[in-house]
Amino acid sequence: MCGIVGAIAQRPVTEILLEGLRRLEYRGYDSAGLAVISADNLLMRERALGKVAELEKKLENSSLAGTLGIAHTRWATHGEPAERNAHPHVSANRIAVVHNGIIENYEELRESLQAEGYVFESDTDTEVIVHLIEKAESQGIELLEAVMSVRKKLRGAYALGVISNDEPDSLIVARHGSPLVIGLGLGENFIGSDIQAMLPVTSRFIYLENGDTAQLSRHEINIYDENGDAVKREIQQSTASMCASDLGEYRHYMHKEIFEQPQAIQATLDSRLTGESFINCIVGETSEGVAAKDILAQVEEIQIIACGTSYHAGLIARYWIESLTEVPCNVEVASEYRYRRQPPKKNMLVITLSQSGETADTLAALDKVKQDGCLATLTICNVPESSLTRESDFSLMTIAGPEIGVASTKAFTTQLVALQLLLGQLLQAKQADDKLIIELISGLKQLPVIVEQVLEHDKAIEKMAEDFIEKNNALFLGRGEQYPVAMEGALKLKEISYIHAEAYPAGELKHGPLALVDSEMPIITVAPNTSLLEKLKSNLEEVRSRGGMLYVFADKAAEIKQQDNIYVIEMPAVPESIAAIVYSVPLQLLSYYTAVFKGTDVDKPRNLAKSVTVE
Ligand code: F6R
Repeated sequence: MCGIVGAIAQRPVTEILLEGLRRLEYRGYDSAGLAVISADNLLMRERALGKVAELEKKLENSSLAGTLGIAHTRWATHGEPAERNAHPHVSANRIAVVHNGIIENYEELRESLQAEGYVFESDTDTEVIVHLIEKAESQGIELLEAVMSVRKKLRGAYALGVISNDEPDSLIVARHGSPLVIGLGLGENFIGSDIQAMLPVTSRFIYLENGDTAQLSRHEINIYDENGDAVKREIQQSTASMCASDLGEYRHYMHKEIFEQPQAIQATLDSRLTGESFINCIVGETSEGVAAKDILAQVEEIQIIACGTSYHAGLIARYWIESLTEVPCNVEVASEYRYRRQPPKKNMLVITLSQSGETADTLAALDKVKQDGCLATLTICNVPESSLTRESDFSLMTIAGPEIGVASTKAFTTQLVALQLLLGQLLQAKQADDKLIIELISGLKQLPVIVEQVLEHDKAIEKMAEDFIEKNNALFLGRGEQYPVAMEGALKLKEISYIHAEAYPAGELKHGPLALVDSEMPIITVAPNTSLLEKLKSNLEEVRSRGGMLYVFADKAAEIKQQDNIYVIEMPAVPESIAAIVYSVPLQLLSYYTAVFKGTDVDKPRNLAKSVTVE
């Protein structure tokens, strides 16, 4: 995790670095720091515990200034969040390093450096890197060479930015595993963990490849591959917009993003379907030049891999795919999949789902899939220039726009829309009955308006959330594809309100969790008018007869009436094909308002980060 930014320019870089950090805060925000080489060649550093704003405050009273600098926003892996563990880490007061990733062999490196007299000020894995570079450089080699030699000793994942007061015209970067992008300016160059960090200063970028080391001066960029050979990497012109999302009338990005869902869903659907058919919206081809349509015609099995909220989208899609096609579909969290041995499956399509496209576990799982062999890889992602998009054969983009709140909302519902677009194309490739395709399209076309109608319940859901202020636990129930909807509801509630929440398939309650039910345990459930509605209602009776308090989002046709221990919010009638998408929305609002009442940091909940780029 963590975000890196760096600049070498003819103007002061502090404000550029701070703006870069603000834009990278989604990657971590427990501490931040910045180091520059001053006009008289001194290495100057400032660090602060907490968010970038804390660093900014400290800098207001600091004389730190320079035209070469690196900066970092941290999400702790090794060492608690504390100023002494914040980056940049420094050696001998002359070399500074920022690092994103994890050095797996840091303990042995630390021991041997300590034996040589190096004193460690932090508990981080990163500090070994800066001392190793100092050690190499003090033997008389240049900074670039020192970084290249140190790389050979490091095991793990890293993106590095390195500066030294011996070389005030040089910013060195290295990449292995963690993402790193170079931004090209006129008489100035930049580095960042992603392009967002650099959009205020440039739109031209070079994506470093794994194993690359680069030396940036104000006018030149030289890149070397893992063998140390000079290489050219393509310069890409980005069309991404830098307009930092403005909160407008909203108090939090999460609330704003929940309300952006009708537009985000519409944008993800636009030009991708007609009244009767799905238009190909899958970009790319396999290394043998095979197009998506032909892959979908051949596919005999689907494996979906993702983490967190994206994993829940995958679980919902499995119900859809298996109910409408003959293609079996497995779904697994990436952190498990990446370490599990499986026989290669030549006719398996592997789909990765990711909002950011940079999630380390998902990227590693994709890597494994490619080594094991499969029919093709496809990513459903919200960031066109992301690592997953670049490393998959095919991509299908969600058009959610940037999502700033750490808790994913519009990225999730647009993933579900993209999965339906994929399903539609799969049905067409398998020459399924036109009726199925038309029904799917009809549901999707109604979706933006139905989500608007659900959002009209905002105030009613705010009222419902008052009941949760004093709660420490909550159970979410669902059946069929509403079970992963319940899982997503529970994840949202725990991540932003810090209330312990679990989800169960409603039919599983009697096999154990029913023991938890009493008048103190809120039970939240979604009850659309689907084939499993009657089964769900029987499960709710089991809860009610044990004194449990039910909070139900129900279709009118469900005829679940508000009474003493049942709090009902009536939902619009929805086609079954889109029910999972629609019923996810009130659960987002319930978590949002509960967190607001509890006074948590809704957009930046404790211990979390938007993009998890470490294992
Ligand atoms: C929760 C949330 C996370 C992410 C997960 C995967 O609200 O956002 O669970 O879904 O970290 O991230 P992506 O989708 O970027 O791969």
